[in-house]
Amino acid sequence: MTDIPETMKAIVLTGHGGMEALEFHEDWPTPKPQNEEVLIKIHACGMNNTDVNTRSGWYSKAVSEATTGDAYETVNAEDPSWGGAPITFPRIQGADIVGTVVGVGTGVDPSIIGKRVMADCWLRNWDNPEDKNATGYFGSECDGGFAQYTTAHRKNVLPVNSDLSDAELATFSCSYTTAENLLNRVGCDKGDTVLITGASGGVGSALIQLANRRGAKTVALASESKHGDVARFSPTAILPRSPDNLAEALNEAIGQKTVSIVADIAGGEYFPTLIEVLERGGRYGTSGAIAGPIVELDLRTLYLNDLTFHGCTITTTNVFPDLVGYIERGEIKPALAATYPLENFHEGQQAFIDKKHTGNIVVTVD
Ligand SMILES: NC(=O)c1ccc[n+]([C@@H]2O[C@H](COP(=O)([O-])OP(=O)(O)OC[C@H]3O[C@@H](n4cnc5c(N)ncnc54)[C@H](OP(=O)(O)O)[C@@H]3O)[C@@H](O)[C@H]2O)c1
Repeated sequence: MTDIPETMKAIVLTGHGGMEALEFHEDWPTPKPQNEEVLIKIHACGMNNTDVNTRSGWYSKAVSEATTGDAYETVNAEDPSWGGAPITFPRIQGADIVGTVVGVGTGVDPSIIGKRVMADCWLRNWDNPEDKNATGYFGSECDGGFAQYTTAHRKNVLPVNSDLSDAELATFSCSYTTAENLLNRVGCDKGDTVLITGASGGVGSALIQLANRRGAKTVALASESKHGDVARFSPTAILPRSPDNLAEALNEAIGQKTVSIVADIAGGEYFPTLIEVLERGGRYGTSGAIAGPIVELDLRTLYLNDLTFHGCTITTTNVFPDLVGYIERGEIKPALAATYPLENFHEGQQAFIDKKHTGNIVVTVD
């Protein structure tokens, strides 16, 4: 390894809190690759709500409101993060990395040096990689990509052969693996009609493209100001975020009052309406609750209509290589809304929280 500086620029999360808990440092120690690890020079790293929710402490059961990105007085360092255990600070967040391998630890074939790679955001126990209890999230249970360098297990990264820019590639990993995993779990196939909440966002835009790829019909729910942008992902129909009479709105848009799948990342007050439009035997999949984690469920709707509910977070190990294949074959397109240099990270995260964008916001590193 040559020309690797001893220190680097990094955004360091010092504890749960507001934006001030994220500190910009120019002299943070550069990580060194351990056994089976690669050292990656970061070019770009996408933003995700997991970073915002981890910072604020939203995963604590003491919090019951929609995601705002604000600090919670009820949360402290002992509160569990997404995986049910507290995380340790300081922590460099950022899961959706794109960078070049510039060094390797012991046990790694050096021919990977010089290759542009993406990382799977799920950290595995590679002795038993499908063990979901032994899985961590990049930038949560280890340091991630809001920095000039990071390390990752060699099996957690894949070279990507694509003409897309670094920033475009950095829109994919978390959102698209999450969406593909949800579609796998609910068994989405051609013949299905998929109703998608938060369709202007990272996971929502991924759900549209990945369900279309399977030949399903897709109905996108999104703020009306974003409908023009959402149309670029080619859903079968686009409806407002929360129509008063959803069955009638569906009927007008696609000629049917029910759907076979609801792919939900919003939850909140609209949840009962979503469940009411599922056909008999319909499937509901959730990967998020940006509109609020506490919802009202009429159990009669669930059991009398023979519905199936799926909670979807940790992906199976095939999902990330499948995604890289879709990218390399041009089967999905990136939705890059904006880029912010690492030095302007706080401005970028505020834009990400404000949600005026469609797709994803990416941090670039020189
Ligand atoms: N389980 C996992 O592994 C996993 C992975 C990734 C993300 N997630 C979760 O999934 C959720 C979405 O993630 P994302 O990356 O797609 O987020 P995003 O890019 O921020 O998009 C979320 C979209 O939801 C809509 N929205 C925001 N607030 C809403 C509200 N109060 N009610 C209804 N819709 C609202 C917005 O669209 P409109 O303005 O157009 O309505 C927004 O574009 C987050 O909660 C995130 O934590 C989970």
